[in-house]
Amino acid sequence: MKVTAVAPTNIAFIKYWGARNLEAAIPFNPSISMTLTRCVSRCTAEHREDDSGPDEVLVRSPGGGLGRPAPEFARRIREHLSRIRGSFGRAGAFHVATENSFPSAAGLASSASGFAGLTLAATGALGIELDPAVLSSLARQSGSGSAARSVLGGYVEWPAGEGEERSYALPLAPATHWDLRNVIALVDSAPKPVSSREGHRRATTSPFFGRRQEILPSRLRTVREAIAARDLDRLGPLLEEEAIELHLVAMSSRPPILYWRPGTLRVLEAVRELRARGVAAWATMDAGPNVHVICPPDSEEQVARALNRLPEVEGLIRDRVGDGPQLVAEHLF
Ligand code: PMV
Repeated sequence: MKVTAVAPTNIAFIKYWGARNLEAAIPFNPSISMTLTRCVSRCTAEHREDDSGPDEVLVRSPGGGLGRPAPEFARRIREHLSRIRGSFGRAGAFHVATENSFPSAAGLASSASGFAGLTLAATGALGIELDPAVLSSLARQSGSGSAARSVLGGYVEWPAGEGEERSYALPLAPATHWDLRNVIALVDSAPKPVSSREGHRRATTSPFFGRRQEILPSRLRTVREAIAARDLDRLGPLLEEEAIELHLVAMSSRPPILYWRPGTLRVLEAVRELRARGVAAWATMDAGPNVHVICPPDSEEQVARALNRLPEVEGLIRDRVGDGPQLVAEHLF
């Protein structure tokens, strides 16, 4: 059976940074995110019961044909396919192809959408339909923890969980609850110098990591309340605090990780200038140099115009909250 899933990436409002168990992606702290619409991974999986060969993994480059992925990426995909097969006591081989609608490994959470899509397509190809908690837990075990949130739409919380089996994401509110936009300013779309996996590993070496854990419970509470009340004036300052804190921990890890580029700072300043002019816009970031500007629909045009004018900005992706993954009929092979 051949199944194709389109899974969006997500932007964290409260970040997962630091793992209790890195292999299984068990986080130190809960995280909260918004699932996007346009930044998606499409994944086609076919399962052949009588095929004993190795799993075949292909990627489609933007505008190009199918080719071999980078060895590390292929290894992670194969490992996850074996996990999925093992979880359901199945044999056979998978044929898989995947593509992203946006730059990969540039701090735009391509592994979140990629592994959410892979989990959905591969289980679908086995003829298995999982409930969201099991799907989320399985996506998390890919090692890309944020994939646990990308199997759900709208606003999502991934509690820290109590153990491997019980760590999965839950819906906080559907996309229809609050129409927020995300204007992503690309200042460098080359793959990032240090993977988020390595960042999680180093996080606890930062002298600020422990303090961050103390601060988070109250910030999490306020973010939940602000989402429930659709209150961007309350949510916004926490988005920026949280993004800067993620990078503060990264920059003070041993050895330090510097994801920022000169353009990152320029965009952060521009967002402050927009607010000074009365435009509602708040920045957040993943583990990369690009800046996600969260705003209501009536600010989006002004935000996009202001960011487009900056020479450091290579391009914009105008995204928004979305409904989560879907199965589609357009296969990649
Ligand atoms: O899911 P991972 O292992 O790629 O880590 C994600 C880390 C951040 O994107 C920086 C934060 C998050 O919660 O998405």
